[in-house]
Amino acid sequence: MTSERTKPATKLPRRVVLGVCGGIAAYKSPEIARRLVERGVEVQVVMTDSAAQFVTATSLQAVSGRPVRDSLWDSAAEAAMGHIELARWADKIVIAPATAHCMAQLAHGSCADLLTTLCLASHAGVVLAPAMNQAMWLHPATQRNRDLLVSAGVEFLGPADGAQACGDIGPGRMLEPIDIVAALAHDGHAGAAVSGPLNGLRVVLTAGPTREPIDPVRYITNRSSGKMGFALAAALRSVGADVLLVAGPVNLRTPAGIARIDVETAQEMHDAVHQHVAGCHIFIGCAAVADYRPAEASPHKIKRASAERALQLEPSPDVLASVAALPNSPFTVGFAAETDNVRAHAQQKLLAKQIDIIAANLVGDGRGFDNDTNELHVFWREGEKLLPEASKSALAEQLVAIISDRYAQSTRAASMTSRVG
Ligand code: PMT
Repeated sequence: MTSERTKPATKLPRRVVLGVCGGIAAYKSPEIARRLVERGVEVQVVMTDSAAQFVTATSLQAVSGRPVRDSLWDSAAEAAMGHIELARWADKIVIAPATAHCMAQLAHGSCADLLTTLCLASHAGVVLAPAMNQAMWLHPATQRNRDLLVSAGVEFLGPADGAQACGDIGPGRMLEPIDIVAALAHDGHAGAAVSGPLNGLRVVLTAGPTREPIDPVRYITNRSSGKMGFALAAALRSVGADVLLVAGPVNLRTPAGIARIDVETAQEMHDAVHQHVAGCHIFIGCAAVADYRPAEASPHKIKRASAERALQLEPSPDVLASVAALPNSPFTVGFAAETDNVRAHAQQKLLAKQIDIIAANLVGDGRGFDNDTNELHVFWREGEKLLPEASKSALAEQLVAIISDRYAQSTRAASMTSRVG
């Protein structure tokens, strides 16, 4: 029999450098090491000088089973170049906790110690689990560093929101070790073999707003941030779907394991969707596509003094309805953003657009658009379900469960019909 300990978990990287920085959350780092080792991962801990103020090398060595490394000048390392040796050894570098200082150093390519130097020298993916006071996390300098790191391909796990060791409340808590290890196991870039009810099914999903140009500097758009659609992409992926996300202009990181095409206008969204929808199993229209666009975009900036004040609008293509109308249309899910009579409008759209499911939300007055939370009322021909207010990620998981269930029923019904026929 193969024990848990000796059998590497297929979804996790085989060799992890666990970087530990100097923050109060460092007391949780041994638990991360322990959980990884239990799942068959080889863990090499690298700690900074300040980390030693919060956790001992002895504990980290005990749980990882390897002497902790902390110095750039390690005569015991191969050719005395510990950073190069470790940089080549690691499949993944996970820094937990990652302090604001560590983020700043990594963002600017500083090689102040063994940990930052090996990050620069390695081709392995770098994952940060930040932990710091909420004001430090929200500081524009930290946010700029985060953006720089994300654009360089660094992945972030957290931080979480809540009570902090310093007494503040807000974002900056390190994720719990169990969640960090679970997230590493679900990381598409780490070769994740995620599976679930949508295993292997192709899903095309739209998210975010569209922008319809008036002239080279102005456009018509709406308040969609893309958060709901991106949360859906992650939830779909976590149950095994092969997801293509067609995104309007948003400022969001692509969830792990998701293919993404960026578009700007309704026409571009329509064209990108139709290029890829053939053969897909499920289409989900979560984007807030502009219903109307300027009939003609001026090639030059319209001058303030221009006599023309009225904007001529024409309907833009209806992406969702056009997919539902295809001869071999996929299972089709739409959204309805309503300011009143949610039920009536949503049910009317379900029938008018000939789709399988519609997820309706009340918008306006700070609801629906751009928030981290939402409430959805989901309708299909034979039923409905209210998903009470929750984070968009939690709602996405619940909606994906409904979609999986309804999709399975529709394929069962289709196979019965073809057998009877
Ligand atoms: O992005 P967030 O800030 O997280 O906000 C989430 C959301 C409020 C945008 C989302 O939950 C939502 O409701 N998305 C649909 C917004 C919308 O355009 O609703 P609608 O009722 O106008 O359109 C109905 C359906 O037709 C939608 O699936 C829409 O994608 C689709 N549509 C609409 C017009 C058009 N020209 N083409 C379309 O495909």
